[in-house]
Amino acid sequence: MAMQGSLQKKLLHTFAALADLGQEIAGTNDFEEMVRTSLHLLLGTLAIRKGALAEYDEAEQALKFIVVRGLGLQLQEEIPVDEDDLKSLTSLDSQGIAISAEDTHSNQFLKNHQAQFDFTRFELLIPLVVRGRLTGIILLGKKASGDSFSGEDLETIHAMARHIGVGLNTHRLMAELERKAEENRRLYDGLRAIYKDTVRAFASAIDLKDKYTQGHSERVGRYSEIIAREMGWSDEEIEGIAIAGYLHDIGKLVVERDIINAPYKIDAKKSSELNRHPAAGYEILSPIRHPYADIPLMARHHHERVDGRGYPDGLKGDEIHIGAKIVNLADSFDAMTTDRPYKRRRSFEDVVADFRRNTGKQFASEVVIPFCYAILKEMEGQTKERRIMKMLGRDYLNPERDIPLLKDLIAELESEALSASAGNA
Ligand SMILES: [Fe+2]
Repeated sequence: MAMQGSLQKKLLHTFAALADLGQEIAGTNDFEEMVRTSLHLLLGTLAIRKGALAEYDEAEQALKFIVVRGLGLQLQEEIPVDEDDLKSLTSLDSQGIAISAEDTHSNQFLKNHQAQFDFTRFELLIPLVVRGRLTGIILLGKKASGDSFSGEDLETIHAMARHIGVGLNTHRLMAELERKAEENRRLYDGLRAIYKDTVRAFASAIDLKDKYTQGHSERVGRYSEIIAREMGWSDEEIEGIAIAGYLHDIGKLVVERDIINAPYKIDAKKSSELNRHPAAGYEILSPIRHPYADIPLMARHHHERVDGRGYPDGLKGDEIHIGAKIVNLADSFDAMTTDRPYKRRRSFEDVVADFRRNTGKQFASEVVIPFCYAILKEMEGQTKERRIMKMLGRDYLNPERDIPLLKDLIAELESEALSASAGNA
């Protein structure tokens, strides 16, 4: 009797754990193992030799056996369930029905699947129903003693059946949740890809309009990305700055083509027309809900200067968004290192001199220094790819000649930045 009591306790414990699984159902294997153990314990406790448990798969409208005991391979793996079956099973609730009794054929499900059950000699069919939804069935054979089930046996069976039903239901809900989350992830990834493709399409549209700066927007995007990565930005932020780079000149779409394509340095009037493009870009980009909220601002301020002499808002120093400072540097660097209609590109020595002269005036040292490091690392072969060198083309950089130049510049800018921060403190 004591033996029986402790087994019952163990049994109840197991079923409670099953119903409780919640998010612990990490893998399907754990879950099936749990269900298997539960059925085996139930059979063991009541000394039943044969038993089976099937989970109801709503999507496939079939009962799928998870555990079959004492029947060898006699059972089909799946039982298809139609509307009538479903109705007759859920109407039984967890009361169950004796299979061999005369009322067998009063149940539509048993009638429909008579062939399946006749030879198996099951005694009892218990549908597992949670809140009106079928989650599975349990089939039980005779007790080994030959006795029929007592009232107490039936009570135990029904209590266990409820627990298993809840466990199956939880498992199903978790699986549904997982499926929905996966679907959302896919949708989200899809939208992101569309967004990125759209951005790229715009970048090429901008570059097409300006026939002398082919690929400019794309390169500015890449340089910006490289600078931000060197500055330790997160992947998400880096993606954002790349997009800001691609789109920084989108306002040029509203500037007349012959001003953009002027094969000479333009006069003041035309230049003020051209200078509308950052604010125009802001107007174009603002209504879009970007995954990275500051993109319109970065476009608006990519011609601001840290000394306050830029446009359109004449912002100074820290008033300028850090992303705009990055795009500004990337933009200027590309302008200096590509041929334009009225001038050839400048040598790297010249670019270094420009950085030296204009850091603290046009450029912010907080972005110039990381950019110099990124170029230096590529020249020293410390990076997997040589993205900057690829964009600049063969032979533009000469490590032997240019590494010392860059190192000097970095040392100088760093000591300036140091004394500036000491002065502030
Ligand atoms: Fe621009």
